[in-house]
Formats: sequence, structure tokens, C-alpha cells
Amino acid sequence: MNITKKKLGFASVALVLILMGTANADVKQLTRDNGAPVGDNQNSYTAGEHGSVLLQDVQLIQKLQRFARERIPERVVHARGTGVHGEFVASKDISDLTKATVFTKGEVTPVFVRFSTVIHSKGSPETLRDPRGFATKFYTDEGNWDLVGNNLPVFFIRDAIKFPDMVHSLKPSPVTNRQDPNRFFDFFSHVPESTHMLTWLFSDFGIPANLRQTDGWGVHAYKFIDAQGDVSYVKFHWKTKQGIKNLTPKQASKIQAKDFSHATNDMYENIAAGNYPKWDLLIKVLKPSEFANLVYNPLDATKMWLDIKETKVGTMTLNRMPTNFFQDTEQSAFSPANLVPGIEPSEDRLLQGRVFSYSDTQMYRLGANHQQLPINRTHVAVNNWNQDGAGNQGKQTSDVNYQPSRKDNLVESDQARYDSKPVSGVSQQKKISKQNDFAQAGVLYRSFSKKDKQNLINNLAGDLGQVTDNETKHIILSYFYRADKDFGTRIIKAVNGNLDKVKSLSM
Ligand code: HEM
Repeated sequence: MNITKKKLGFASVALVLILMGTANADVKQLTRDNGAPVGDNQNSYTAGEHGSVLLQDVQLIQKLQRFARERIPERVVHARGTGVHGEFVASKDISDLTKATVFTKGEVTPVFVRFSTVIHSKGSPETLRDPRGFATKFYTDEGNWDLVGNNLPVFFIRDAIKFPDMVHSLKPSPVTNRQDPNRFFDFFSHVPESTHMLTWLFSDFGIPANLRQTDGWGVHAYKFIDAQGDVSYVKFHWKTKQGIKNLTPKQASKIQAKDFSHATNDMYENIAAGNYPKWDLLIKVLKPSEFANLVYNPLDATKMWLDIKETKVGTMTLNRMPTNFFQDTEQSAFSPANLVPGIEPSEDRLLQGRVFSYSDTQMYRLGANHQQLPINRTHVAVNNWNQDGAGNQGKQTSDVNYQPSRKDNLVESDQARYDSKPVSGVSQQKKISKQNDFAQAGVLYRSFSKKDKQNLINNLAGDLGQVTDNETKHIILSYFYRADKDFGTRIIKAVNGNLDKVKSLSM
């Protein structure tokens, strides 16, 4: 095609658009994925008026092929989510605790947050009782740090080996595809450490009113390392500046009848109105020498660090919705393994499993090069010889694809070495000591107002009352009874349990 003909081609496209009344200054040529212009996007290429559709209609074939491949596997948990962009501003010098530059006082770091529900599928309502995911990706000047937390401060289990079974019990039944309290209470009746989290979940905190009026918690202990290599243990807490608001089941069903995306809608509306939600980031710090004084194991994710003071270290503001849900929110990949110098995982057994699990599932869900996708890509240069793989968008040009090499000066940093911690002992497969499974659930129950206690009993009775296996029901009742006698007695009454049986199980 000569240039005159090509120009004429584009001119006629523009003319058609003008005649169709859709012309504007930014007329763009419709193309196929290889960039070539499309001649006709309305009519398939046929062998005459009565003949078959021709296989050589690459526009038709490509459109159908791409359409058939639009879905990727949904996340195995936390499938339903909403992402929002924003920034984090560090407000306190904590260089005595960590060398992480994200905490340099005054430092502004772009963030992307994905809020989610945990158990149900991508299209499920946002009104269900479920923990909410609160995952934050900080695009720091030393690489990405992901703080992948929840809206509740503790977790159901303390060892990663239990996670797939726990999720299976909470997900809909493989037989009926219905969520069934008989199944998850059967599982939890073997997991007394879940009592604290179950108390949170069945309180009104189990249905946050929206995404803005909820706190976020890192749940695990992490390690802070300062420039001298000194270690402190830290827990993170996002404290909402909008105030906490939760729903009762009655309020939730009323909303669900009209809108099953009420929380996402609320976020879009507030951001559009310039009402940007904010959270303060608070930390609690423990020195390893303080562990022995505690009646619980501080590296147990079923425990809060009660009685340790919180310090504010910065504030996050969310101010921009993604321009494309799939590209940003669906393709976002958060991982507790995305850490930066100055922040390391603690020895918490649940966290250690997560450090492996997320990148592993993302290699399956999004592919080996998922960290190169725009939403996941760090804002600093990536220099290493991890290479090739499906969907690679790198710009590798060097003949040296190994390290060390005399022809290349890619070097390690002493400052980025992992913490060196003395270890000794015998390898084992054993529960932790200081399990203390019930005390903090009791503290939580007693902290609730009269109304909150009543709602907790009602919410719990709604699900536990459906459990038909008497043994399962009474074991679960004994856990709440051991947490707090009043709590236990009231829930026993609400589900027609037997106090004597519960007492004998509580010995
Ligand atoms: C051993 C325990 C756990 C395992 C094995 C595990 C595993 C997973 C997996 C496989 C995903 C899907 C990730 C993806 O496809 O991108 C996920 C998502 C998520 N998990 Fe966990 N999880 C565990 C415990 C927890 C805990 C304790 C928390 C909170 C502190 C948590 C918070 C989240 C959040 C917020 C997401 C969604 C991230 C996003 O928005 O993309 N998980 N988890």
C-alpha cells in the first residue's frame, strides 16, 4: 500500500465516523493485537452472501480467542476485593528500631491497598460475616513492602500446616456447594486456639459497615532491624480516622437485598466526592528479652499484645480508584515475602508458611513474571538474573546472565543481609508452649458493651445452633465457657446446650 492510499484509508475511517456522528479530535484507528488496522469489526468475512465464514478472518478469530481467555483463576481465598491507590507519610523518626527507609520521618511513599472478603467467590455479596483482608503495597525506594493484614487483630490458627484444612471447612461443602456451620465448627472443635478469633468474628466486627470505617491489623509479629543490626519485634495496626462502624445481621440483610456491593460503592462515592479516607499506622514493639515475662507466646498469631503501648509512625490517605479493575485490582499480587531491608518475618509459624505460600499461588494465578505487571512492579530498578518464563516483559540485553562475573558489577549489599540469630535445639513437630488458648477471648468479651455482648450471643447462636453433632457443639461451647463463664453460660442457653456437659469438658 502506498502512502497516498494509506492516508486515504484513514481519511475514509474518519469520514465514516463523522457521518456516524461520533467524530472527535482524538479519532483512533481500531487495531488487532499486532497493531494492524481492522477493516471491519461488524461483519465476519464470508465466502459470498450464502457461504461459510472464512477461517482466515483473523480479527474474528483473535476476538473470540481473547474473549475465551478473559478469566484468570480467582484467588483461592480473598477472591472478592476492591483496590484503591494512595500514599503513606511517615511521621516519626524510628531509626533506633528499623533502617527501613519507608519510615524516614517525612518520607512519602505511594501505596496500593486491596480490601477483600475471605471465603466466598469473586461475585459474592459484601455483607457476609467474614474477616476482611486489608493488604497494603508500599512502593518504597528500596523495593516493595507488602503488609498483608486483616481487619481483625488475630487469626484462627497459629500454624500454616492447618490453613488448607481450615479454608476447606469454611468454604462451601464439596457436596452441596453450601457453607455449613456443621463443617467449620467440626474443624474448630479441634482447634481451641481459634476461640479468640471466633469471638471477634461473631461479634459485630464480623460485618464491617464499609471499607473506610474499619481498622487493619498486621496480625503477626515482624522483626525490625536497625542500622546496627539490633532486632526488635513489632506489630502493625492501621487505625481508621473515620471511626469504626459495623453492621448487625439485620442491617446487613436489609442492605444486601438492595446492593451486594455496598462497601465498594461507598468507597467509589467517597473518593469521587474528595472525601479521602485516612488511617494512622501504629506500632507495638517488644524486645526479645521481654518475651519471657509474657503469659502467652508473642509470636502466636492468635494473641494480641495487650498492655503494650502503641506509637503512631505515619498516616495513609487513599485518594484514587484504579482506572481498570482487572489490571490493578485483579492482577495485584501481595505477599508477606515482599519485604525490604529493616523489616523481616518473625519466627511465627503461621507467617513463615505465608512467606512461601503467596508467591507460590501467584506464580500459578498470574505467572512467573507477575512482579513485572504494572501494578506489582517496584518503582526501583530490578537487577538480577531471574529470567525468561511466560509473559516476560523485561529488557534484558546483557550476555552475562549470571552473578558473580568479572564482566559485570552486580553486587550484594551488606546492609541487606538477613538478621543473624543464634539457633539451637532439636528439630521437632510439636505445639508451642504457653498456648493460653482462652484468656484473651475472655478479655475481649468483657470489653464489649451490654448490647455488643448480646449481639455476639445472637450472631453465634445463629450458626452454632445449626450444628447437629452434640459432641461438636459442646466442645465449642466449652471453649467459650473457658474464655468467660458468663459468655459460656449465655451461649449454652441460646443453643439449648447442657451446662453440666460443658463443665465436664472444661476440666
Ligand atoms: C498460613 C496461613 C495463610 C496462608 C497459607 C494464606 C494463603 C493465602 C493465599 C494463597 C492467598 C491468595 C493470594 C493471591 O492469589 O494473590 C491469600 C490472600 C490473602 N491473605 Fe492469606 N493466608 C494465610 C493467612 C493469612 C493471615 C493470617 C492473614 C492476615 C493477617 C491473611 C491475609 C490475606 C489477605 C489480605 C489476602 C488477599 C491479598 C489481596 O488482596 O490480594 N492471610 N492468602
